[in-house]
Amino acid sequence: MRARRQPSLTLRSTLAFALVAMLTVGAAGLYLYESMKASVLMRSDHAVLARLDHFRKLLHYELPVEKLRENPQILKNMLYSEDDIFIIGEPDQQPVIRVNPLNATLPDFPETNTGATLSVDDLRSGVTASGAPLRAATLITTSGGREVRLTAAHVMSREMAMLESFRQRIYLAVSLAFLLTALLGYILLRRGLRPLREMAEHAANITPQRLDSRMDSAETPIELQQLSDAYNAMLDRLANGYQRLTQFSADLAHEIRTPVGSLMGHCQVALRQSRSEDEYQALLASNLEELERISRIVESILFLARADEAQSVVKREPLSLHDELQRIAGYFEGLAEERQMTLQTSGDGTLKADPLLLRRALSNLVANAIRYANEGSEILMRVVAADGGWQIDVENQGPVLSDETLRKVFDRFYRGDASRHQGSDSYGLGLTIVVAIMQLHGGEASVIQPKPGTIRFSLFFPTA
Ligand SMILES: Nc1ncnc2c1ncn2[C@@H]1O[C@H](COP(=O)(O)OP(=O)(O)OP(=O)(O)O)[C@@H](O)[C@H]1O
Ligand SMILES: [Mg+2]
Repeated sequence: MRARRQPSLTLRSTLAFALVAMLTVGAAGLYLYESMKASVLMRSDHAVLARLDHFRKLLHYELPVEKLRENPQILKNMLYSEDDIFIIGEPDQQPVIRVNPLNATLPDFPETNTGATLSVDDLRSGVTASGAPLRAATLITTSGGREVRLTAAHVMSREMAMLESFRQRIYLAVSLAFLLTALLGYILLRRGLRPLREMAEHAANITPQRLDSRMDSAETPIELQQLSDAYNAMLDRLANGYQRLTQFSADLAHEIRTPVGSLMGHCQVALRQSRSEDEYQALLASNLEELERISRIVESILFLARADEAQSVVKREPLSLHDELQRIAGYFEGLAEERQMTLQTSGDGTLKADPLLLRRALSNLVANAIRYANEGSEILMRVVAADGGWQIDVENQGPVLSDETLRKVFDRFYRGDASRHQGSDSYGLGLTIVVAIMQLHGGEASVIQPKPGTIRFSLFFPTA
């Protein structure tokens, strides 16, 4: 089943940004709109009240209602305006002046006291026939000894139109904010995420032959630099492992080819004519020897391959180092005697290590010593307490080795000239196995020449 495709990060972030921009602009617009609306309504309310007050004073002090009735046109002309309503008249009679161009129905008013100064609370809201909101107030005053009722209202059609156009602009601004942020965000994000695409392209082009190519992290933004550094480091490790593997298989083929070739040669020669039983037996015996060699190489290589991948093979036990040295010395006594050599041991200590692996490492060192040291010399195995662990030295007297040789002795399949001439029993794997065993124990193997002709191999086992 194919996993559902996740929406693109660019798209998601762009939309999120655009929504945020839209909300911010929208909220700001709403706030401005509301405050503008409040101030527009307040201005219109105050205008209505000011008008009422002005005409109350006019009718009360200067223009008695009688006079107005005779010539209503003076005021009517003055009052005419599309948005304003003005009604003057004695209560319960036909009004003297009635200016109401839109024919709006006014809201009902409670009786208002004569002398009371009006406040915003005395205004009432209503709507015209066409649906425009209006604000109205009324008051009763005296004019020329009679009671007169004044009613004024303002229809807020212009204000509403203005607010409406302001609202349209806000909608426009919000939409523009969304579109612009989305567009710019998309472009910027795509640019910002380009290193990721480059990395994917780069990874897609990696093959065993092109393991040496690396990402250039100098131009990568900091957030992605960690990723590209880790990616490059991964390629380093892969290239290294791959190179070692290639080298290893090349070496392996080379090492096995010689004994297999010689086996084939022997058999071909033997098959050319019929042989006596003794000759066949001799051939089989020499073939067996060759096969044993191959089997030992394969066993060593298998050991190294397993040691490369598994830490779990180490079974640590407390070991008495004195006993271990004695055991090895006893084991190699016969071989040493053949070359008139003596084995000396010294020191003691207790170490937690895998006994089989420890013995194998020591055996490899002592076998080398017996093989490469001068005939009749002395081999010394010594335990010394080192900083944070135990060190086991194997020291022997032999030919002076160059620094170059000392650097190479631990390499896989490295054999010095001496061993090459000394017959076919050497594979150059003994010391590599020692190194692997020391790595499994978290320690290390090293070699020095304390003085010319003396070689000292040291195994360091940390106690922790
Ligand atoms: N004690 C030593 N004195 C002088 N040279 C040594 C000594 N130990 C090792 N070498 C050199 O280091 C080389 C590598 O040693 P290593 O034990 O890895 O392989 P080898 O002894 O040649 O073969 P193998 O141990 O696999 O049978 C040897 O061929 C030899 O030249
Ligand atoms: Mg060896």
